[in-house]
Amino acid sequence: MDKLLAKLETRVQDMFHGEKSGHDIHHLKRTLNLALKLQEKEGGDRLVIGIASYLHDIHRIIQNETGKRCSPKDSLPKVNELLDEIEITENQKESILHCIEFHEEYAFSKEGVTVDDIESLIVQDADNLDGIGAIGIGRTFTYNGAHGVPMWEPDIPFADGEEYNDEVHDPSAVHHFRNKLMRLADNMNTKTAKKIARSRHKFMEEYLEEFFEEWKGEK
Ligand SMILES: [Fe+2]
Ligand SMILES: [Fe+2]
Repeated sequence: MDKLLAKLETRVQDMFHGEKSGHDIHHLKRTLNLALKLQEKEGGDRLVIGIASYLHDIHRIIQNETGKRCSPKDSLPKVNELLDEIEITENQKESILHCIEFHEEYAFSKEGVTVDDIESLIVQDADNLDGIGAIGIGRTFTYNGAHGVPMWEPDIPFADGEEYNDEVHDPSAVHHFRNKLMRLADNMNTKTAKKIARSRHKFMEEYLEEFFEEWKGEK
């Protein structure tokens, strides 16, 4: 698999060069590492999980280029093109495309999680783990900064309990923590990811506590 990933690396690096909203090549590499770590404990096809996690966010690049909303499904023709350049079987190719198509499902969104193959569940978990904890905090502010979204709007109430809709921007970075990131730990599919998520989630709780204390001038 290392050889296949090395073959894809130049193409992926070219595509993600200049990505400034937190979905950069380093996010792909961290997601890949997390996914492989989960695979060691949870099983599943290592090659499918590795390649799918490395190519999972190509729709973000298409969206940056076209300015139009692009779902993971819309990125499949481009992913297919890349997969044609490496030697894998048709079955492996189909499984990789499947993982990518369904990697952005959340239990707290309208459709919920609809897949049950371990490969897709692991790619979902790895991507979501990279969205929380210290890295998640950094990526949230990077993403919101890139889209001109403020860090906090105290006059806008939280929409607690509502279904999460990925298609609309939250009013501030802190709203995004509450509406999505603080719900990710409970959303993990695998036991191993649940365990890793626990300390990352706790760190975000402490961060938000500190944030509000400082905001109110209590510290
Ligand atoms: Fe994604
Ligand atoms: Fe991602």
